[in-house]
Amino acid sequence: MTGVIKQLAILGSTGSIGQQTLEVVRAFPHRFRVIGLAAGKNIDLLARQVNEFRPRFVYFQDGKSGQRPADINCEFLSPEDIASHPRVDTVVIATSGKSGLLPLMAAVKAGKEIALANKESLVAAGEIITREAGLNKALILPLDSEHSAIWQCLQGENQKPIRLVLTASGGPFRHYSKSRLSKVTVEQALKHPSWRMGRKVTVDSATLMNKGLEVIEAHWLFDMPFESIEVLVHPQSIVHSLVEFVDGSVKAQLGCPDMRLPIQYALSYPERLPNPHLERLNWDVMSNLTFGQVDPDVFPCLRLAIEAGRKGGTYPAVLCAADEVAANLFLSRRIEFTGIARLVEQVLERHQMVVCPDLDEIISADVWARETAYRFVSGDSPC
Ligand SMILES: NC(=O)c1ccc[n+]([C@@H]2O[C@H](COP(=O)([O-])OP(=O)(O)OC[C@H]3O[C@@H](n4cnc5c(N)ncnc54)[C@H](OP(=O)(O)O)[C@@H]3O)[C@@H](O)[C@H]2O)c1
Repeated sequence: MTGVIKQLAILGSTGSIGQQTLEVVRAFPHRFRVIGLAAGKNIDLLARQVNEFRPRFVYFQDGKSGQRPADINCEFLSPEDIASHPRVDTVVIATSGKSGLLPLMAAVKAGKEIALANKESLVAAGEIITREAGLNKALILPLDSEHSAIWQCLQGENQKPIRLVLTASGGPFRHYSKSRLSKVTVEQALKHPSWRMGRKVTVDSATLMNKGLEVIEAHWLFDMPFESIEVLVHPQSIVHSLVEFVDGSVKAQLGCPDMRLPIQYALSYPERLPNPHLERLNWDVMSNLTFGQVDPDVFPCLRLAIEAGRKGGTYPAVLCAADEVAANLFLSRRIEFTGIARLVEQVLERHQMVVCPDLDEIISADVWARETAYRFVSGDSPC
């Protein structure tokens, strides 16, 4: 893409990943132009972004009702229409939870280049999305630091690796006992030691559900069986993941924990761009890198996610939906931290899987899981 300006649409522009994507765009105004922005409810920030980047298309929740601020006067389109618009070269999908699914599907069907942060959509509908991506020659480029690391390690390799190792910081509670975990507060869970992220993904990182979703995401992105994907706790978040090959050679990608690096790599791929705003690795930290196993008793969400991924069908969609409800119930202080895994497990146990689901069946499973989770919490459970 040397010399060509890439036209970007950024869905979730007001979130953590969306804002960091705009920082990358600011650093390379001659390489990237923003032509579409989509947000949820943070209209003030969206209006400032519209004013700075002057996109042609915009979306925000409730925007259809006509109550649009005067400073957001560009064409209003749905996230699906923005994601599939012929003028868009690359769509960044950085909305949270379920809201990424339909725009991802639209982008895939339109054969777009997609920089994907929203792992939930690929987890819920991985089989359909990867199949449609193949049929429509869409390119899904990972933004998650772990998957970007694996993708970078695979460059120039013709043979499939035999093992992927995803690193996990272990979150703020990696030294906690099971009993201490039940007393964790929302404030403690939102203090992630190495990454700044949105609230839901920060809670998912503390439970390690995020890592479980990433295992399923890696399964689909790299076409690897679950038994060949491992997780290692690496609290320093410097080694972003590792790939092992048939001859025993292991490649890793290292860098400071800064999402702007994987975002930039996906946007400029296959080129690398020099960005003066990105911190360089300080080699003094290298003597202190550690790696360890996850304690499955302390982090049951990792096991639940991998089991759901292995079972397949509608289980991963149910996992994502139940987890989204559970994380939000914890954030609104209606269940305790350890209640997140309990609730997700109860919903998964109730589920009757649909094998090879279509998109409608995935969406129905999602709705069922949300209703079932709320019923458990309100004491009106179906059991
Ligand atoms: N943050 C990270 O470091 C990181 C790393 C890897 C992957 N991810 C993944 O990236 C995704 C986003 O994470 P994040 O940390 O950026 O989350 P976040 O800060 O909570 O941002 C979510 C974004 O989605 C928007 N949004 C929510 N519902 C929407 C809807 N129905 N329609 C349109 N926009 C909607 C929000 O808009 P408003 O704020 O305007 O309501 C916001 O812009 C998640 O799937 C996460 O797992 C994040």
